[in-house]
Amino acid sequence: MRTCKSFVLAVAAAGCAVVPVCVAQSPKTIYDEGLVPKYSLPDPLITASGDQVVSAEMWREQRRGEILELFATQVYGKAPAAPPEMRFETLSVDKEALAGKATRKQVRVLFTGKSDGPSMDILIYQPHTASTDSPVPAFLGLNFYGNHTIHPDPEIVLSESWMRSNPDKGVVDHRATEASRGVSAKSWPVEKILDRGYALATIYCGDIDPDFDDGFQNGVHPLGYEPGQSQPKPDQWGTIAAWAWGLSRALDYLESDADIDASRVAVMGHSRLGKTALWAGASDPRFALAISNNSGCGGAALSRRRFGETVKVINTAFPHWFCGNFKQYNDNEDSLPVDQHMLIALLAPRPVYIASAAEDRWADPRGEFLAGLHADPVYRLLGTPGLDAPQLSAESMPEVNAPIGHTIGYHIRSGKHAVTEYDWQQYLDFADRHLK
Ligand code: GCU
Repeated sequence: MRTCKSFVLAVAAAGCAVVPVCVAQSPKTIYDEGLVPKYSLPDPLITASGDQVVSAEMWREQRRGEILELFATQVYGKAPAAPPEMRFETLSVDKEALAGKATRKQVRVLFTGKSDGPSMDILIYQPHTASTDSPVPAFLGLNFYGNHTIHPDPEIVLSESWMRSNPDKGVVDHRATEASRGVSAKSWPVEKILDRGYALATIYCGDIDPDFDDGFQNGVHPLGYEPGQSQPKPDQWGTIAAWAWGLSRALDYLESDADIDASRVAVMGHSRLGKTALWAGASDPRFALAISNNSGCGGAALSRRRFGETVKVINTAFPHWFCGNFKQYNDNEDSLPVDQHMLIALLAPRPVYIASAAEDRWADPRGEFLAGLHADPVYRLLGTPGLDAPQLSAESMPEVNAPIGHTIGYHIRSGKHAVTEYDWQQYLDFADRHLK
């Protein structure tokens, strides 16, 4: 691969995929199925000592823990427990939001209990429907540019957090402006979600950890430092694990909110935040369902395929996303003790949905599908129908725009890297089947 001193980041025409230009143009980026190297995947159902996992109990008691530990220490990094001083401050409640359709709550999570310490703001819309006397299920997901971007609702607090400058999104000098209200509304069909009887909770990912490499001085990382420590150790949390930790803290809040049924929360995310949703669901079994939209490398896509983005490329362009240990696998994927099908398996027997887009080759749609397929034996061992697609094998690929699956759901839709109405339609239908 041609080396470049600094990666030039280009915002791809559609969605927010940021492809390092010199990498995308490298002749070595694999976009041809025939160039995918031969690989063999670690078997999720063989223990570290070489025994076959023969029962659900053996999975739960032994193998699942081994795999979780490997992802925590080799890929995303270990995160600390919830800080005991954490508290929630309700900023506002409006029962007549969105022309009476919803209750809007805005809640600040003060991680250290102090108003001037690190914090994140949760925006929640709850439906007003006939059946909402009882707590409602919810979707929970991080957003890229602030809560105020997901809907033009003028009452949403305009984020004051650092964010990547982007004039198209109304972000100037790393700060949101009024022009950024509602700019991401296409990715968040709030009314549709409410009409289907779900609440929606969202948080700006940069509240938890700003998305740039600053040596882990800002965001929540310092909360995990021992006296004298100023960097995470090689097996401690990178930014994706910090974002996932923030999602767990949001779930802590939702557990305290009588209007939400915290046992029916679907954690959802797109792209880097799809990687995050999978790790949040895997590392926190309280999440009832996980959805990854176009999550790609370090998300649902199998690393060993090296198709599109590779471990080395992602660790170079985004050195802060994964833990220090993950860098050992740059150009060395076959040494990984796990691959991403085992991340999906960690969610079993809970429902998981993996979504790809046909033109999103950087994220390796086929690698995303195969991760679901190779997690299927674990789902079946645990007594669920899993992918429920006996006609599919490692040689096949589902049709475009034809969702498949049961406990593991999958679709590849036509089009580019983005979250679309089509994607949400499938997530709502999937959630109806599993959470209602
Ligand atoms: C880049 C990155 C991907 C990521 C995407 C995004 O394209 O290489 O791994 O998923 O950004 O988060 O938009």
